[in-house]
Amino acid sequence: MILQRSNVPNLDQISTELSRLIGTANTTEFRQFFVYYQQCQAASNEFGTKLDNLDTEFQLRTNHNPIHHMETRMKEPRSLFNKMAKKELPRSVASMKNHIFDIAGIRVITNYLDDIQTVETALTNQTDVKLLKRKDYINHPKPSGYRSLHLVLSVPVFQIDGPVETPVEIQLRTVGMDMWASLEHKLRYKTNVDQDKVAQYGDQLRGYSSELNQIETNLQMIFKDLQDD
Ligand code: GTP
Ligand code: MG
Repeated sequence: MILQRSNVPNLDQISTELSRLIGTANTTEFRQFFVYYQQCQAASNEFGTKLDNLDTEFQLRTNHNPIHHMETRMKEPRSLFNKMAKKELPRSVASMKNHIFDIAGIRVITNYLDDIQTVETALTNQTDVKLLKRKDYINHPKPSGYRSLHLVLSVPVFQIDGPVETPVEIQLRTVGMDMWASLEHKLRYKTNVDQDKVAQYGDQLRGYSSELNQIETNLQMIFKDLQDD
């Protein structure tokens, strides 16, 4: 089951954001932007279908489906342009193509820790998929305690003129990691929250992440033991 959060771009909003990015409205740049945004949406659809098919096949052929659920989202133009400004990237669609790989994003939430590897292999083994980047925040959690496996994968999108390799960011995490990330994100980015106060809870939040990791490791051991019977 794929839960799709649909950020259909709004033309007025994009025009405002884009003129902020490239200064005076430039038609060619506008067109390039829309074409690339749609290209990323198409790549997301390709991976969505791949994952949906894998989900069904696991269900049909195995006695354990590693996938709990999936979510897809397109990065909102506002957050895309803010990210470019933060990275001090040149204001152009070309630099967007070269440096931003998460315009399309898919999150795969797995049942157990080992399931992450299973899904990663099932995806990267596909002959039309290329692995562009891999960040393992599971074996190397972020200082905040954040855990997930971040992959940037590309797939050919067959446009009218032919195929173009297009990146999608795929975040793989267990239900426990997802629970932690989702609540921690809400705590940290709650409007009007005092950041010094959030920092005071840093050790505690990091601690919960590692406790959850321990719990998930133990649950997986129970699952394996029961499966071996
Ligand atoms: P760029 O996308 O190029 O900036 O690099 P990146 O993908 O490696 O970025 P990064 O790994 O820092 O994180 C991107 C996403 O991961 C964020 O949008 C969040 O969804 C998630 N994330 C990263 N760090 C944290 C964290 O400390 N807490 C939570 N809740 N989520 C995080
Ligand atoms: Mg990213």
